[in-house]
Order: sequence, then C-alpha cells, then structure tokens
Amino acid sequence: MKHLGDVIPLPASVRPDPGADFRVPADVSVSAAPAAAAVADELAEVLREVTGFPVPRTEEGSIRLEIEAAGEARSPESYRLAIAADGVTLGAPTEQGLFAGFQTLRQLLPLKGEVVLPGGRIEDAPRFAYRGTMLDLARHFYQPADIRSYLDTIAQFKINHLHLHLTDDQGWRLEIDGWPRLTEVSGGEGTGIDGAGPGFLTAQEYADLVAYAATRHITIVPEIDLPGHVNAAQVAYPELTCDGEPVQPRTDAEVGYSSLCAGKEETYTFVEDVIRTVAALTPGPYLHIGGDEALSTTAEDYRTFMTRVLPLPGKYGKRAIGWHEMAAVDLPQDAIPQYWRIEPTDDGVARAAAAGHQVIMSPADRSYLDMKYDESTPLGLDWAGLVSVERSYDWDPADRLPGVGEESLLGVEAPLWSETLRSLADVEFMVFPRLLAIAEIGWTPRAARDWSSFRERLAEFGPRFEAQGINYHRSAEIDWP
Ligand code: ACM
Repeated sequence: MKHLGDVIPLPASVRPDPGADFRVPADVSVSAAPAAAAVADELAEVLREVTGFPVPRTEEGSIRLEIEAAGEARSPESYRLAIAADGVTLGAPTEQGLFAGFQTLRQLLPLKGEVVLPGGRIEDAPRFAYRGTMLDLARHFYQPADIRSYLDTIAQFKINHLHLHLTDDQGWRLEIDGWPRLTEVSGGEGTGIDGAGPGFLTAQEYADLVAYAATRHITIVPEIDLPGHVNAAQVAYPELTCDGEPVQPRTDAEVGYSSLCAGKEETYTFVEDVIRTVAALTPGPYLHIGGDEALSTTAEDYRTFMTRVLPLPGKYGKRAIGWHEMAAVDLPQDAIPQYWRIEPTDDGVARAAAAGHQVIMSPADRSYLDMKYDESTPLGLDWAGLVSVERSYDWDPADRLPGVGEESLLGVEAPLWSETLRSLADVEFMVFPRLLAIAEIGWTPRAARDWSSFRERLAEFGPRFEAQGINYHRSAEIDWP
C-alpha cells in the first residue's frame, strides 16, 4: 500500500489517518453528480483494470464524486480527497478539480490486484495556474496519435498547458487557409532536421487535437514563431523575403538567419491571415508569437514589426505570449513574456513585471528538456549545460530573475526542442522523469518541496511508466525498484 502523500506533484495538505484505510471490495461502485460523470467513468475504468471488479455506476457508491460550492478563494483545479474505512469522497468545485483529484487517486492505486487505499484527507490546489510543457513539431513532426498519447501521460502529473511550436526554419506544421504552400511545400517530404521529420496538421486535425486535449483538461497554446525562424514560410512564399528572391529549404539546426521583412505590407497581410486563422481554430486564451533569436532582424525592424503584430492576438480574442526578447518593446497590457535564457538577470522581463505583466518561467539551464541529463545521454543538446533530474527540481521560479517574484508569475513551462529527436520514444526519454520535477514546482507549495522526498516518490514511477509503455530515462540519481 502506498502512503497517502506518495504522489507527484505532492499535494498542498496531506493528513494521513492510518486507522481509516479503505479496502476496495468486489462490489465497489462509483456515484457521481452529472457534471462529474466523465471523470467517474475514467475512474471506474482504471479501477476495473487494476482490480478486475465490475465497478458499476450506482446512486450510493462507496466511491463518491461531488461538485462542491466554489467559494471565492478556491482555484477551479482545487479538490478534496477523503479516504475512510467505508469509502472515498472526492469533491471539487469544477470538473477540472475532480480530474486533478482523480490523478492523485490513480497514483495511490497499485498497478494490479487488491487495492487498499491509505486513509486520511488531502486538500489540494495549485501554486500556479499555468503548468506547461512545449513540443517542437517544426524540427520533427509527431503524428496526432503520438501527441494524444503524450497528452494522456502529461495529464497524469497535472500539466495543464501544451505549447505547440508549429513553425520554424525547417518546417511549417499547421494548414493555413489561403496559404496552401506553407504545408504543401514546407510540411512535406524532406522537411525537418536532416529532412527526417515531415508532416503537418490539417486544420481539422489540429481542431481535433485541441478538443482531445480539453478532455485531459489541457489547453493547447499554438506558437507561430515571428519575425525570425521563418525560412520554411519563405521557401513556400518567396514574396515574404525583402528582395522576393527564392530561398532554399534548410534541414540543419542553425538559428538566426531568417527574418520577415518589417518594411513590406505583404508581411503584415500574411501575419494577420495566420494569426486570425490560428485564433479561430484555438478555443484557449493564448496565442504565442515567438519573437526569439531574431538575429538577422535589426533592432529597429524588430520594434516596427512587433509593435504592429503584438496587438493582433488581442484583435482576434487571444492573449499574446512571446519569448522574452519581445519585452524589448512596449507590450500590450495583457501580453506574457516567457523567459528562456540562462543569464541571472533580464532587464526587459523585470521591466515588464514591474509594469504588471505576468511572466512564464522557462530557464533553459533548469527547464529545457532537450538538454542532456549527463555527458552520456545519447540524445539532446548541452548549450545550456547538463540538466540532471536534481537540477530540474532544485530551483524556484520566484527566485530566478530579480524583479520577477511570485506575484508576477503566471507559471512555469518546460520546453522540449526536437533537433535530435525522431520519435515519441525519444520525446518520452527526454521528458520523463524531468517533467515530473517541473510539474511539482508548478503545483506544490514551495515550502513543501524537498528533493530527497521527491527522489523517493519518483522511484515508484519507474514501474508505472513501464506498465503504461512509456519510455523514460533511468537516471542513476534515483533508486528505481
Ligand atoms: C528558444 O530557445 N530559442 C526560445
């Protein structure tokens, strides 16, 4: 039997009651309010797999899912889990909260066989509203079925945003109405790093993926990287360069050589068409416009371009997120810089925070999941250093940049770039277990976090990953069973 707090991310409050363990009986059933039906069905399915019992839905189940009064201060993701000798009650103000509580309960189950749940009470709510990870579809495309599988896995750790890097120099991965060559040419054969990552999402496939993510209570954050990282767009449409001359497809990993032309009207027609289309396909509140590493855009052109483009997400009902370089220009009121570098200070981000902007924290030396774990890691890069599991855990986003404290943070995100990756198995190897560290940083109260406790709890997830067919790195830092 697991201990009540043996879960990731660690809940805000855990009060074990060893006299109140619940032995799940063969006639176990689940009851749920109508708004809790979807979570109840998933819970029953998981219990069936573990126990082999029929686990029907009844009016008076020994496992009860309840929608509770919201209360002003409660996060929609908050929940309460009470385990007593005669049954389990999971209560939350929203379906989202019940889904979060279900992930906790699921981790308390054994992989197979008799179930005894540890007695006591958990009261839980997230530290940050935004807990994300990013997948780079431009350098290597992953099929929708793989992305759905990935969503299933990350949801188990209460990750609630998946940022999709959809465009870059080596590929364009989302169909845009009126601009068919973006995906016909730059999403086709031979695109991606080494030409090994072809493919794109049709508008329908993207919409289906967004809808699937919503069933996992995950918001998709689409990124169109501008004004740099645009070679693939310029291959498809040479009029998007300043001189209108054709450019060659690129399958290497260089950065900083391509730029949209800030002085050309065609640029803004293109950008607005793309932003309008992506916004219309995306029910979530955010649209990421990139803004990073525009090394072949002059500072003046960057300012001209960004000043025109930054209001466009808002025009189409979205909040702009951008890599933190965009903080060099005056931002719309609700725009969100995402810090990604390794330096200990950043004046632009500090200024944005002082002006009231929320910030997403993704320092590469802690949260970039494409960094190698150690020198022997066969995949990944090391420009930001080696990122062991402990390094990914043992830092705090509220301490990362002077002037960017707790109250300025929307949350934390762990990006994964695909230059060296070729499959979902490669993705999983880089992400697991480090994403669990970022998930705990994003969810658990700071004062409750502790590396030695995390390290011990993490070991249990090795067999769980194996049972679910998820690839992971068996880091020597963890005493895997
Ligand atoms: C980045 O890593 N260029 C955001």
